[in-house]
Amino acid sequence: MTTTAFGLQRQFDETMILPSQRLGPLRESVIREMTRLAIQHNAVNLSQGFPDFAPAPEIIAAAQRALGEGFNQYVVSWGDPDLRQAIQNYMQKWYALAYDATRHITVTCGVTEAIVATLMATVHSGAEVIIIEPYHENYLAACVFADAQPVFVALEPPRYELDLDRLRRAFSKKTRAIILNTPHNPTGRVLTRAEMEGVAALCREFDAICITDEIYDQIFYVDRAHIPMATLDGMYERTVTIGGLGKTFALTGWRLGYACAPETLTPAVRTVHDFMTICAPAPLQRAAVTALSMPDAYYAQLKRDYRLRRAKMMELLEQAQLRATAPEGAYYVLADFSEWAREMDDFQFAEYLTKQVGVAVVPGSSFYHTPGLGKTQVRFAFAKKLETLDAAQERLMRARH
Ligand SMILES: Cc1ncc(COP(=O)(O)O)c(C=O)c1O
Repeated sequence: MTTTAFGLQRQFDETMILPSQRLGPLRESVIREMTRLAIQHNAVNLSQGFPDFAPAPEIIAAAQRALGEGFNQYVVSWGDPDLRQAIQNYMQKWYALAYDATRHITVTCGVTEAIVATLMATVHSGAEVIIIEPYHENYLAACVFADAQPVFVALEPPRYELDLDRLRRAFSKKTRAIILNTPHNPTGRVLTRAEMEGVAALCREFDAICITDEIYDQIFYVDRAHIPMATLDGMYERTVTIGGLGKTFALTGWRLGYACAPETLTPAVRTVHDFMTICAPAPLQRAAVTALSMPDAYYAQLKRDYRLRRAKMMELLEQAQLRATAPEGAYYVLADFSEWAREMDDFQFAEYLTKQVGVAVVPGSSFYHTPGLGKTQVRFAFAKKLETLDAAQERLMRARH
């Protein structure tokens, strides 16, 4: 029997053959563990980043139709042709990006798999990959699987701007790739054109690949639109543009993502994907064509709804004296709890909030590699019904007063 960071008991037979050393520092996802702890303690779950509201009914109906119409066997490994065409159309329509369904697009089991497949397909063993921290925990795991050497560059509160001088110092001859996530989980930053240009210039100078995570491309609160890295000068050839349907269409359990890569890299990405998963779920790929055909009004409503959720989130943080910078995009906020509980670290505070207050959050330091960072922060996810956020507000207020 072993005990995890939050005291969950796990069966472990000490006489078992030990797992591979390859996993090194990797341990179970703290975020997923928080969700289990939330269930155990009946807490409002603002830890894991999934919507607690339903997807659009026409998307659900399309999935039901697909099951009935016989889309139940493997499809071509790199994706249902109609879905790849829909992704091609999406990229063209929103970003004027010319990715070709046949030559450039691979449908994957979520962005998670797309990141792993891309790193394994493009990064040579031992090469360096730059990760901006705080980071989505999957990036380090992907580096471990790909036998890549992660190099971390931190964004600092409260503005979380990308310090291009610091980033330059992280680049070297050994740099093969940088993973760039905008809109950003967990800070909510939407990188400016100047920041994107700065990254692009370094990628060109050091002949590095940019692997982007654009899963929140439709969720932002600022006037500037999302800028895909591949649209910048000289970047199309050296960028793998990764996106997914889970967040935009509230379908995180469907496990659908995609990687759009230049022709030089696509066969390698497809090979890794093929041998890891064969293909993403076939009937859900059919239904995803309907999702990607939603009218513009869907995206406008999405932004309006998220604005309301963000306003509610910021209001409840303010009332609870949890200090936070309002996110520019995505659906998370990192909040500093030192005015509430100076004596606790982030794991203790997350545990206290979950077990005693009844609101589950994620410890800030789990998004950082550099020791000491994130120790006074926790992350709240607000892709939730307003009633859910109200319930969290009520519990936080009760604990505060
Ligand atoms: C930045 C980022 N990338 C990737 C993922 C996972 O995406 P998927 O569910 O498509 O694997 C998440 C989920 O929270 C995320 O925040």
